[in-house]
Amino acid sequence: MNQAARNIPLDAFWMPFTANRQFKADPRMLVGAKGVHYTSDDGRDILDGTAGLWCCNAGHGYESIAKAAYNQLLEMDYAPAFQMGHPIAFEFADRLRALAPDEFKHVFFTGSGSESVDTALKIALAYHRARGEGQRTRLIGRERGYHGVGFGGISVGGIVNNRKNFGTMLTGVDHLPHTHLPENAFSKGQPEHGAHLADDLERIIALHGAETIAAVIVEPVAGSTGVLIPPKGYLQRLREITSQHGILLIFDEVITGFGRLGTPFASQKFGVVPDMFTTAKGITNGTLPMGAVFAQGFIHDAFMTGPEGMIELFHGYTYSGHPVACAAGLATLDIYEQNGLLTRAAELESYWEEKVHSLRDKGPIKDIRNIGLIGGVELESREGEFGTRAYEVFLKCYKAGAMVRYTGETIAMSPPLIFEKENIDTLIDILGEAISTTA
Ligand SMILES: Cc1ncc(COP(=O)(O)O)c(C=O)c1O
Repeated sequence: MNQAARNIPLDAFWMPFTANRQFKADPRMLVGAKGVHYTSDDGRDILDGTAGLWCCNAGHGYESIAKAAYNQLLEMDYAPAFQMGHPIAFEFADRLRALAPDEFKHVFFTGSGSESVDTALKIALAYHRARGEGQRTRLIGRERGYHGVGFGGISVGGIVNNRKNFGTMLTGVDHLPHTHLPENAFSKGQPEHGAHLADDLERIIALHGAETIAAVIVEPVAGSTGVLIPPKGYLQRLREITSQHGILLIFDEVITGFGRLGTPFASQKFGVVPDMFTTAKGITNGTLPMGAVFAQGFIHDAFMTGPEGMIELFHGYTYSGHPVACAAGLATLDIYEQNGLLTRAAELESYWEEKVHSLRDKGPIKDIRNIGLIGGVELESREGEFGTRAYEVFLKCYKAGAMVRYTGETIAMSPPLIFEKENIDTLIDILGEAISTTA
């Protein structure tokens, strides 16, 4: 396998979010995964500092998930969910709902985080229309937000490279300012300053009129843009303003869902209940593609008014509630629950925080941020070479046996929730060494 991995032609696969030519000139291939480690094609153990892509929250290589998927494949490999049902999708929706705050009564299945985002935005628009407020068509995102790569997601998203090449996107979208303030540098956990940035929503409302705005979508903790933690009181303030003006609040919990912050979902960590929230990734421990949108009862109920024989929401995917993904998801929830993983990050958080912040003197570091089992280390950029230092650090970590992510000039870490303290020590040692040897 390892030799084969090296001999396969690399040309055909147009890799996503990758510098294809650079990668193919010097590939980094993973060929195995178990527990908290990957195996590289040259036979090395690579400590997984990112839970795959923020998705393998319970680590890797569970037989119970494999068996559940295998058995489901043999029992019934696929069945549609349009005007037909299969029991496992209902069972999974019910199990998921039980993890969320009581207000969330319904779950709409998708195939990914991007689909979950587009689904939530469409439900928001259709919800207002169903209630006779069809003029509420505006969607508000946030600068530096990441909501996947569908046209809805990049429209409300706020990362310039994900937007600028793709035309005009959705119309009628506005953005809140991001919450990354220099005065919060090196904050531990939630920063003190910045709750007032939510008040910018009042300015947007004054500009457009509340009655034209359908929804506000934010990541409770922004990951892809470099780990931005919400300032204290910020999410509460957003909730107050949206409620006051009949605007739906959507949390994008694609990375914060399933225990990343020490609670099943971010709404429970921050004590702020949105109207809908999106998930994916950890829903199946990253094993099979799946996503889900959680909706409060009143949203779903607004659709259940016309003739009973009428389809209420003209939206769905071939793979919504895919039986094999549901089987993997149910087995995943068993693992999360049996091992206390949905709250494990809370136990590790203070140790993690101390270790991540211990990197401060290791080199040219501009900021360090942490919450739950997430850490971000922002490096100073070299003159005129934004991102090159973080790329080199990432490469050095990989060579030294640890996988981290880099985004812009920030090294992002989100290890599996089964990490032990010694795994944290190893990860931080490797990263510290990489930073201190990168001029
Ligand atoms: C907050 C957030 N939303 C949406 C997505 C998109 O998910 P996917 O890549 O499964 O489409 C991501 C992916 O990282 C994400 O972090």
